[in-house]
Amino acid sequence: MDCCSSGYDEVFTARQARWFRRRYETHGLGQPAATLADLAAAGGLDGRTVLEIGGGVGDLHVDLLRRGAATATNVELSSSWEEQAGELLDAHGLRGRVTRVVGDLVTDPGLAGAADIVVLNRVVCCYPDFVGLLAAAGARARQTLVFSYPPRHPLVRAGLALLNAWQRLRGRGYRAFAHPPSAMHEVLQEAGLRRVFGGRQGVWRVSALARVDALERAA
Ligand SMILES: C[S@@+](CC[C@H](N)C(=O)[O-])C[C@H]1O[C@@H](n2cnc3c(N)ncnc32)[C@H](O)[C@@H]1O
Repeated sequence: MDCCSSGYDEVFTARQARWFRRRYETHGLGQPAATLADLAAAGGLDGRTVLEIGGGVGDLHVDLLRRGAATATNVELSSSWEEQAGELLDAHGLRGRVTRVVGDLVTDPGLAGAADIVVLNRVVCCYPDFVGLLAAAGARARQTLVFSYPPRHPLVRAGLALLNAWQRLRGRGYRAFAHPPSAMHEVLQEAGLRRVFGGRQGVWRVSALARVDALERAA
């Protein structure tokens, strides 16, 4: 998917990126990022590699690196985050441990390889092809995958319909989605992952999955 024709660069702006960076510097991770970070860290972080898809300004993987992860790769559809993301990395001396790529892993699978931990925070709801996105993410998770998504509650769907109508009125291709949770988890199961945690954080649902081989080795 092309970020510009589909409106990602218009919806996610440099101004928003600045706000997200400052919020992290002042208050640390918000939710559901903090819960995902704890779930990602549950099996230990020391020396682990992280792939974040749609990581925005990068606060979540920056946090995982500060807690002991070795390196991170971020694949982002929108280029609006890059300047602030670079400043955040410099502020924490992490530039050399993070690779940032602008593009779509679904249509361009060569953008990133496998990692021990794969993270998608509030991303699957911004992308129409959840099967392609989660299959690409699941295939790359050597040990753990954590992600957040909105529920398919009628109120949430009504809110998203309003948001999408607004985007349509403005002539933008961007749409938000409440994809079916069971179908999303089936895609990840097909990729060899098993759900080990499911919960909620405010309006968001959070899930952690582990690679079945790794679970069996640990048993
Ligand atoms: C709501 S923002 C969330 C940003 C960040 N994860 C956070 O929670 O602050 C969703 C992000 O996902 C990105 N995104 C959506 N689909 C993507 C895809 N297929 N590959 C990479 N990034 C994607 C968008 O560009 C956007 O920056």
